[in-house]
Amino acid sequence: MADSPLLPPAAVRGMTLLDRAAFRRPLDVCALRVPRDSITAVCRLVKAQMLRVPALRPVQQAEELEPGLAGGEAGGDAAQKVVLLDPGQVKDEDDLPWPGLRQLGLEPAASFCRLPLALTYENYRADAVLRAVLPGDQDGCTSFSRVGHLIHLNLKEHLLPYGRLIGAVLMDKHSGVRTVVNKLNTIDNTFRNFSMELLAGEPDYVVDARENGCGFRMDFSQVYWNPRLCTEHERVVALLRRGDTLLDVFAGVGPFAVPAARKGCHVLANDLNPESARWLRHNVQANKVAERVQTFNMDGREFIRTEVKRAALEFLTEKPGQAQMHAVLNLPALAIEFVDAFLGLLSPEELPEGSHLPLRAHVYTFTKELEVAEQSVRAMLNANLGRDVAEHVQEVFMVRNVAPNKLMYRITWDVPREVLCALATEPARKRPKIDE
Ligand SMILES: C[S@@+](CC[C@H](N)C(=O)[O-])C[C@H]1O[C@@H](n2cnc3c(N)ncnc32)[C@H](O)[C@@H]1O
Repeated sequence: MADSPLLPPAAVRGMTLLDRAAFRRPLDVCALRVPRDSITAVCRLVKAQMLRVPALRPVQQAEELEPGLAGGEAGGDAAQKVVLLDPGQVKDEDDLPWPGLRQLGLEPAASFCRLPLALTYENYRADAVLRAVLPGDQDGCTSFSRVGHLIHLNLKEHLLPYGRLIGAVLMDKHSGVRTVVNKLNTIDNTFRNFSMELLAGEPDYVVDARENGCGFRMDFSQVYWNPRLCTEHERVVALLRRGDTLLDVFAGVGPFAVPAARKGCHVLANDLNPESARWLRHNVQANKVAERVQTFNMDGREFIRTEVKRAALEFLTEKPGQAQMHAVLNLPALAIEFVDAFLGLLSPEELPEGSHLPLRAHVYTFTKELEVAEQSVRAMLNANLGRDVAEHVQEVFMVRNVAPNKLMYRITWDVPREVLCALATEPARKRPKIDE
């Protein structure tokens, strides 16, 4: 494919230290000199042919471009504007719609001109800069997430030598970004946080994020936070009603808990990571919902066996009308194995036959069985409970595509009495193979 004159010069390919000056590229463009009072109508006519690059206005005062006006006795005329045209679309005057332009009083001889400009680093978007610099045949360089003032990347091996350059470009091109990091490990440690390498900017990892109308502050290097879950958080919070109780077993820094409390739910929120629990408490205070939220810092199974049980007994005693209890278990790699903590949570005396605890669980999991994803999720739940709860499942929802061969699902089910009052000794079976 021919090199577009609007892309950075070929010489920047392979650069590993950002040299902004090397991006300067001469560019000859065609232009129209237009009397000030016709400019709106002319722009309407040539809209699709105007030059569009970042940090360069396609319509300028003629005097702003001086002394660049080629053949231009009109250069420097304050009564005139100049419309810059895209060199890919307008190579000479024949490419312009003269019948319409003539009606507006323009003539080729007086209005058409050529200007010697130059594009610089400022005139390229981050993706154009990176595409020009990085090895041409490989991809995956520009996908990143932003949390507050911080951008985080997951650089593939072959791009590691370009890490500092990529960091510098992203910081230049995204206003408000002060820190760019590369995540060093996959997110498989207990607390789901990353170790990270600073690529550009300050080593300041305490970030402020907003989600679902609430503010969240956290040390991004110590806790889990994923902006891609925003919609799912919102979806689940939308299922809750004022007066409901939310039992957030793996709460992180509070993206379910805080908005739910803002909505008027009572919340018990837990996380094993002391740093998550600390920022969770901070966010609860900062969002002024402390009176409706209790926070805990313990293992999720223990939280279910003690705090969820206590909340369930209180609920059964108080019977608060139409209210519902919701347990959220968002630790997709493991949460499905924690559902056995609901087995035998209550004794038959605490939940006598015929009585009902309205407890709905929202459990997240990954599946790699793409062809039979929903069945595999249902089967995992049944296997970990040691029984078939199909009739209690409300929804099996595909949350997102985590990797080409990995999906994140939520299974929402009402925890039945047969689970809550199961004999504690009943073993949960291991995960079955899906072969239908
Ligand atoms: C995937 S994150 C989800 C955080 C938050 N709920 C969200 O949606 O962003 C899982 C959380 O579980 C916590 N965690 C990991 N193992 C745990 C355990 N055994 N008990 C309680 N929390 C645990 C991690 O510290 C992490 O904050």
